[in-house]
Amino acid sequence: MDYFKNKKILVTGHSGFKGSWLTLWLSLTGASIFGISNNLNKKNIFKNHLQNRVKSFNIDITNFKSFKKTLNHIKPDYIFHLAAQSIVSKSYQNPIDTIYSNSIGTLNLLEILKNYKKECTTVIITSDKCYYNVEKNTGYKESDQLGGDDPYSASKAIAEIIFSSYFKSFLYKNQNLKIASARAGNVIGGNDWTEDRIVPDIIKSIKKNNFLSIRNFNATRPWQHVLEPLDGYIKLAKSLDSKTYINGESFNFGPNVNKNYSVRDVLLHFKKKFPLLKYKTTKDKNKFKEATLLSLNCKKAKNKLNWTSKLNFKETIDYTANWYLEYFNRNENIIEYSIKQIHNYEQS
Ligand SMILES: NC(=O)c1ccc[n+]([C@@H]2O[C@H](COP(=O)([O-])OP(=O)(O)OC[C@H]3O[C@@H](n4cnc5c(N)ncnc54)[C@H](O)[C@@H]3O)[C@@H](O)[C@H]2O)c1
Repeated sequence: MDYFKNKKILVTGHSGFKGSWLTLWLSLTGASIFGISNNLNKKNIFKNHLQNRVKSFNIDITNFKSFKKTLNHIKPDYIFHLAAQSIVSKSYQNPIDTIYSNSIGTLNLLEILKNYKKECTTVIITSDKCYYNVEKNTGYKESDQLGGDDPYSASKAIAEIIFSSYFKSFLYKNQNLKIASARAGNVIGGNDWTEDRIVPDIIKSIKKNNFLSIRNFNATRPWQHVLEPLDGYIKLAKSLDSKTYINGESFNFGPNVNKNYSVRDVLLHFKKKFPLLKYKTTKDKNKFKEATLLSLNCKKAKNKLNWTSKLNFKETIDYTANWYLEYFNRNENIIEYSIKQIHNYEQS
């Protein structure tokens, strides 16, 4: 990936699950990598390895002044904006924090970029949950209605609306700037330790020899490996550099499936790798409302970016489960193993 050699790349949310993989991937390109996150202590197995390769800033993106000062100090050529409160259940517990981080944080970035004086290509990462969910079988298209019945989904829809209005009102005038938004769904992979997500919950329950409580076995998601949307974000950034007609657009990045896989399917495939895994339906009375059916139509990314997902469902689970097996069996090699997964993915 000589493309980014000697460029300055900023990843917001670099201490998180997707951010840590993106940072590891970009660290192989010869670019200078910068990261902004509000939680540098988040569990992240790549942290020590990346310490000397990434310049980290402990910044809250809802604080406009410090965000602007840091961004103008870094002067990035590329920005991947991933920083967000990413957990649906937490958005019910703390809706203000979620909406602030996800919407106002994005607004702050766009406001800073409005008058940015250097050439810069930016990818704003939101979510498939930005679509107003009508429980339909066919995948959502980029032109479908936005909306959200829960605070997390609403925060991502708001971020998309702010992005679109800022582009149409201001950003299109800034010749230095190329920008697009990216909507992907539930991703899984190694090095995810986030609370209340299916894979970290599976791993925790196996380690503790507990029954895993499942909210909804039948919920389907566009499951994909973390490297898939990251590959999409990277392709989107590169395409923005050469294809002016995609400036200001939004793109879906989802799996290439004709079958929707459920939480039960994920558990059954994981059990093949971790036979000790056991699960039951939760009796939690505080269960919150969640979409049961969600899939994306990704034809636009295929046609305009030449991006399609590469891994099938079994490969997706294998990449993920094998990472944790490797981590628990031979911890010291996990960075090399993760880089090997990136190279294998690139060549697949
Ligand atoms: N993981 C998924 O399945 C998934 C699915 C769809 C979309 N997304 C989106 O992708 C992005 C990354 O997700 P993830 O899984 O890596 O999340 P994560 O929770 O693992 O990491 C979030 C990161 O954002 C940072 N952050 C949060 N609020 C911040 C703030 N106010 N200021 C500065 N930094 C802040 C955290 O410190 C952390 O580095 C998010 O925008 C998320 O909504 C994730």
